[in-house]
Amino acid sequence: MDQHLGVNIDHVATLRNARGVDYPDPVRAAELALEAGADSIVAHLREDRRHIRDDDVARLMAVAGLRLNLEMAATPEMLEIALGHKPFAVCLVPEKRQELTTEGGLDVARERARLAPFVEKLKAAGCRVSLFINPERAQLEAIAALGAPAVELHTGTYCDLPPGPARDGELKRLHDAAEHAAACGLECHAGHGLTLETVEAVARIPSIVELNIGHFLVGEAIFCGLKESIRQMRNLMDRARGLEAATKVGRA
Ligand code: PXP
Repeated sequence: MDQHLGVNIDHVATLRNARGVDYPDPVRAAELALEAGADSIVAHLREDRRHIRDDDVARLMAVAGLRLNLEMAATPEMLEIALGHKPFAVCLVPEKRQELTTEGGLDVARERARLAPFVEKLKAAGCRVSLFINPERAQLEAIAALGAPAVELHTGTYCDLPPGPARDGELKRLHDAAEHAAACGLECHAGHGLTLETVEAVARIPSIVELNIGHFLVGEAIFCGLKESIRQMRNLMDRARGLEAATKVGRA
């Protein structure tokens, strides 16, 4: 089965914000990403607005054919913004002000009661809701109990480990969690820290139907251009799924 690629454009915005000017433009990056084979665009509106800003969300929503997956913390402020825009998808993530990036998954098992109204309201607005978690059975079961349609597995631990038994063990954890997600009736996504070196093993897991990738793609774009970095990632994903022929015909 084909696997979707969501391209996260947050770090184009980070670069723009470092200078306080209006370039490079994350919306232009999103348009190029779609041309290069991305199926959706991911962007994280953080409480401190260190990546994209409120006006970027509006501009992304205005691009024809762009399916926005808005990452956000489960807070009243973010809920109001999401309900105002009704993006194609919302991914609920944990957020700490001091962290460099999303460090771990949500503890849905513990926070089920707090998260329930967020899932319910976003679903009622027509958004495909996913929750970002570490690959653990209890978390998957809690997400299924909440009635959310999708889960995103945190691949950061796997990606941070050097090749060897510990990394193999983490890959197995992802594999088992993806199988369990499917058994719970959840659409399974994965992401965080994926590179050209780590993507194939994750892309090969049959029940994972979407990968969300950002930092590596934007960094690699410095050397080969954004479209080329996305094409290379897309080709490795397709190869892992046994879709090389489709790559050559449809995504040349
Ligand atoms: N998925 C989620 C839920 C994330 O929070 C992030 C990082 O913003 C990503 C995917 C993409 O991670 P990376 O930028 O390391 O590829």
